[in-house]
Amino acid sequence: MRTKKLIREEVACYRKSASRKEVESKSFEIAQRLIKLDSFKASQAIMCYMDFKNEVMTGYIIDYCFKHGKRVVLPLVDSINGIKKVVPYEVVNLENDLMPGVFGILEPRKDSARVFNVKEIDLVIVPGVAFDTGRNRIGYGAGFYDRFLEAVKPDCTKIGIAFEFQIYDDIPVEEHDIPLDFVITEERII
Ligand SMILES: Nc1ncnc2c1ncn2[C@@H]1O[C@H](COP(=O)(O)OP(=O)(O)OP(=O)(O)O)[C@@H](O)[C@H]1O
Ligand SMILES: [Mg+2]
Repeated sequence: MRTKKLIREEVACYRKSASRKEVESKSFEIAQRLIKLDSFKASQAIMCYMDFKNEVMTGYIIDYCFKHGKRVVLPLVDSINGIKKVVPYEVVNLENDLMPGVFGILEPRKDSARVFNVKEIDLVIVPGVAFDTGRNRIGYGAGFYDRFLEAVKPDCTKIGIAFEFQIYDDIPVEEHDIPLDFVITEERII
């Protein structure tokens, strides 16, 4: 089996070569599959992420949530007692409530967005570098999402969204890695 490191490198290469058009159309297809899921329909508060560098684009999903009265929650990586962690914030307006953070990724502004109670999140859309058919996930290697997902309520739905080139048969899993309920690509729901 490939190592996490090798998989991160392979996927980075695919991402670099993907065209903007391809990323946009596949992201739209993924959003369409997501919004048709019963667990998405039933969810009131949805945690999403802000995409960067050819990740699955989340704009369609966030727009849909605003239009359909679902609450939108986004992550801020914040330092709490010197330890960096994911803190969920509710965002009501993408223009006012966000600003560029690390690597230029948009994140919630502490002075306008509000911290959201993690136990009130019904569904989390989890970013990732790669996923496998057993719904395991590899992220960027900080363990931020693994720690965050330990804190959500037990019936919170965890969904990975990814392009087909991010799907492997089998990826290495460590004890702290938290599996997902669904992985959605432009071609299928795993
Ligand atoms: N729940 C946890 N408690 C303590 N340490 C953890 C936990 N989850 C992950 N870690 C640590 O974080 C490091 C990175 O983990 P891993 O390789 O799984 O990252 P990742 O899943 O790719 O990252 P991310 O979740 O940020 O996308 C590991 O050294 C691991 O020991
Ligand atoms: Mg992990």
